[in-house]
Amino acid sequence: MCGIVAYIGPKDASPILLEGLQRLEYRGYDSAGVAVVAPVTKSAPAKLRLCKVKGRVADLAAALPARFKGGAGIGHTRWATHGVPSDANAHPHTDNEGRIAVVHNGIIENADELRAKLAADGAVFRSETDTEVLAHLVAAHRAEGGELEDAVRAALKLVVGTYGIAVLDAGQPDRIVVARNGSPIVLGIGEKEMFAASDVSALVRYTRQVVHLEDGELATVRADGFRTFTEDARTVTRQPSTVDWEVGSYDTGGYAHYLLKEIHEQPGAVERTLSGRLDERFATAHLGGLNLDARELREIRRVKILGCGSAYYAGEMGAQLIEELARIPAHSEPASEFRYRNPVIEADTLYVAVSQSGETYDTLAAVQEVKRKGGRVLGVVNTVGSAIARECDGGMYLHAGPEVSVASTKAFTSTVVAFALLALHFGRIHDLSPADGRRIVAGLKALPDQIRQVLEQQQEIEALAAEYAHSQGMMYIGRVRGYPVAREGAQKLKEISYVHAEAYPASELKHGPLALISPELPTVALVPDDELLDKNLTALGEIKAREGRVLAVAHRPIEAKHADHCLVVPKSEPELDPLLLNIPLQLLAYHAAVALGRDVDKPRNLAKSVTVE
Ligand code: AGP
Repeated sequence: MCGIVAYIGPKDASPILLEGLQRLEYRGYDSAGVAVVAPVTKSAPAKLRLCKVKGRVADLAAALPARFKGGAGIGHTRWATHGVPSDANAHPHTDNEGRIAVVHNGIIENADELRAKLAADGAVFRSETDTEVLAHLVAAHRAEGGELEDAVRAALKLVVGTYGIAVLDAGQPDRIVVARNGSPIVLGIGEKEMFAASDVSALVRYTRQVVHLEDGELATVRADGFRTFTEDARTVTRQPSTVDWEVGSYDTGGYAHYLLKEIHEQPGAVERTLSGRLDERFATAHLGGLNLDARELREIRRVKILGCGSAYYAGEMGAQLIEELARIPAHSEPASEFRYRNPVIEADTLYVAVSQSGETYDTLAAVQEVKRKGGRVLGVVNTVGSAIARECDGGMYLHAGPEVSVASTKAFTSTVVAFALLALHFGRIHDLSPADGRRIVAGLKALPDQIRQVLEQQQEIEALAAEYAHSQGMMYIGRVRGYPVAREGAQKLKEISYVHAEAYPASELKHGPLALISPELPTVALVPDDELLDKNLTALGEIKAREGRVLAVAHRPIEAKHADHCLVVPKSEPELDPLLLNIPLQLLAYHAAVALGRDVDKPRNLAKSVTVE
């Protein structure tokens, strides 16, 4: 949610800032802006130049004056929280004199109070944002003398809320000051040049050497290096680490959209999630990062999974896997609701936080609530070193690779695979037999090729999507293992095509939603070849009897009296079937969105990482 990039060095900053913003645009895309310090000339001191517009980074690039030069600069791509998307509300924000510029991710909770005080002292506010108070606060402290970093520290002491910020000062053009509290900031180390960003994706083109700031830390970034320190001015030493994601991971790689690319990357993503973790000899999984020994794991009586949106639905599939394979009661709950019901935290419950980005504020806050009350939390996270990963006591990284499209696909699949590994590991120290363990190991190993087989049906799914996309709405139904698949399928269609979709357990149809069934409201039905097949077919018969159209996703062709169309996916082990049943639904949503002319990778009103409540 919002992206920050900063550069200082011998090159011209603006092309680097624009390139970085383009890579960060998936985080927010309603407005964008940059500020640079124009170089000192014989006749003029250094001064700030600012350009910001409502719209995309491409609109900013088009609006940028030809001679927008400067060796230090900051940029921002916004997803509105305070104030509508507009030129005025776009970042950077400046003080009255236009000498201090600030870009900010997060929320300043006491902005109204600070704004009133600053206005009384003469600050002129030009936007409706909470961020603008930071520019005025820093300027007020700079006016008292001292260095930029001292003014930023003093300003942040007055602020309540979350932030990742970068601050530029025309009076000290040799530095940029950045700070982090609840919103990530990462420094990039170059050759006589330095970068900073909210996300490594903006940096990988220029450097692999990065330093992640911790909450409560600041850094002064100069062309020749950086210094990290706390809000109390205590110097802290941070060692650089090397980013292993390729720059190509952030390109569409010849696909029409990131979403399509990421759907097609799933076989490789699953291979990486499984890599080095399957133990065929003992028919189990090795999970090095759990930080729990077998005795501690055996003492766990319950598993509670916390995540938002698709991460929550992946958690529902995870809970099902844990209950089936380990026979431990498991439940997935929206992390966004969890802390507001004053949850009972039990010592023998294992809490598992799920997040692709590792930044989702609601999930992070849920983890903190569990830890505050003495609970133990594992993370199932894609982004290495992210806030949630660091807050957890242990966990598993997905290694799915960067996911850029707002709608989650490969991270979703890898999350469910990670839960299958966890369930297998748990199961084998409880009652799961070696034979069943071997069955699951073989099922997991077969998944990448089976996903490839499903992806080969793309053309057929594209044709079906064109037929169904113009429906008034869609119903998604499934039973037991199929129900979370239905929920995720409906979510994918909603978020990228804006076609209303509802998911129900097929068994619930007669208790209400059957009233909706008509030729205008088709049903996508998950019909796995399992013990509920006959019951699922009965539900489809009821829909057809009411002139409802049915698209079945099944393990064998479904007769015309039960379905108008059928997509057949390969059979896995029953516990793993949901993984494969979900893949056609991703392609269906993608092609429906394309058929309707939607902005597939950047759907309206949504952002990739939701770092606010
Ligand atoms: C997924 O398609 C959605 N964009 C959204 O529900 C997402 O899964 C959710 O916001 C959680 O994100 P996270 O995995 O980064 O925590």
